[in-house]
Amino acid sequence: MNHKKMTLAVLFGGRSGEHEVSLNSARSVFAVLSPERYNIIPVGITHQGVWLTGSQVHAYLLGEVNAKESDFTRVTFLSEPGNQTLYGIAGDGKLTPIADVDVVFPLLHGTFGEDGTLQGSLEMGGFAYVGAGVLGSAVGMDKALFKDVMRANRIPVVPSIVVTRKDMRHSLEQVLNEAENIAPYPLFTKPANLGSSVGISKCRNRSDLLEGIMEAARFDRRVLIEKGIDAREIEISVLGNEHPRASIPGEIIPCDEFYSYDAKYIDGDSELLIPAPIDPDLSETLRDIAVNAYKAIDCAGLARVDFLMDKKTGEVYLNELNTMPGFTQISMYPKLWEATGLSYADLVQQLIDLALDRKNERDQTIYQYQGS
Ligand SMILES: Nc1ncnc2c1ncn2[C@@H]1O[C@H](COP(=O)(O)OP(=O)(O)O)[C@@H](O)[C@H]1O
Ligand SMILES: [Mg+2]
Repeated sequence: MNHKKMTLAVLFGGRSGEHEVSLNSARSVFAVLSPERYNIIPVGITHQGVWLTGSQVHAYLLGEVNAKESDFTRVTFLSEPGNQTLYGIAGDGKLTPIADVDVVFPLLHGTFGEDGTLQGSLEMGGFAYVGAGVLGSAVGMDKALFKDVMRANRIPVVPSIVVTRKDMRHSLEQVLNEAENIAPYPLFTKPANLGSSVGISKCRNRSDLLEGIMEAARFDRRVLIEKGIDAREIEISVLGNEHPRASIPGEIIPCDEFYSYDAKYIDGDSELLIPAPIDPDLSETLRDIAVNAYKAIDCAGLARVDFLMDKKTGEVYLNELNTMPGFTQISMYPKLWEATGLSYADLVQQLIDLALDRKNERDQTIYQYQGS
């Protein structure tokens, strides 16, 4: 076969708290991308949001090479339809074309990467890109809106309320009372739009609750307060566009009291059980729910769908859907596919194919009505 070599821009780093996770995801992806098949352009995004390219940019963001930002070429895309060129920005602001990009692979987690903002700018330029579009990304990112969409689709989620910083300023007493009406303690408080367990607290009493909502409100204008479940945590990987498939389920055994930031990234003693030791019928039910949730938010490419399963009653709740889950070789998302029969390298290939497929589909839409 004589494939034309495709140009792939891989985006990593970024402005969110998950910058380092993204660098690790990118390292794994680079390891399986064949240079015979792809012309690979690494695009590292600094904590400040500056886009840089250069052969050493990944190592630079990891702090592994002695270099400075000005050693790399600043790059940008234009949000102009049909212009899929990556431009270098010279010191005087002049743009120089670097490459025409066939597919963008945004390996970015959290804010400005996974939340629809980047996806919006890529849509404006008409790019093919890996992962969900604007809507799926934004709804997947917003834990409050996501839960409402699940409820509308009769997918079980934990009872919760949303309060704003303004509500808190207006009457903290009322907010606390309303929260205590959700369920008996423990309650969980979380920022509506964040990840990696940042700003999340388990609250055992009113004073914890007060602290928890104050903490969450530092990270977002909107705070979610939920019934706390003494839960097993089951996760499923979903892959595809219009006809998504679900992997077998896995289970997380957090080493902390819940799957906190430290348990995820610092202690590193949390365990992944693959497959999750659950009843085969339940496994099938969860796989169906995962696919339905994915379709409900018009997701594309990939997502990891996370469940809470009450240890006592066995009741299951969909907790969240991550449209760009951790993607290192040892992350849950690819591990579940591996256990379902799809290797990491093939998974990366499929994601690129899905990105192209989605662009072809999108290109069939007309944007100006010419009359009949
Ligand atoms: N309602 C809840 N009941 C019990 N544990 C919860 C609840 N909500 C969150 N958790 C715990 O907190 C962790 C992080 O919450 P999650 O909603 O998944 O946010 P993030 O996007 O930061 O991963 C979960 O993996 C789980 O351990
Ligand atoms: Mg989570």
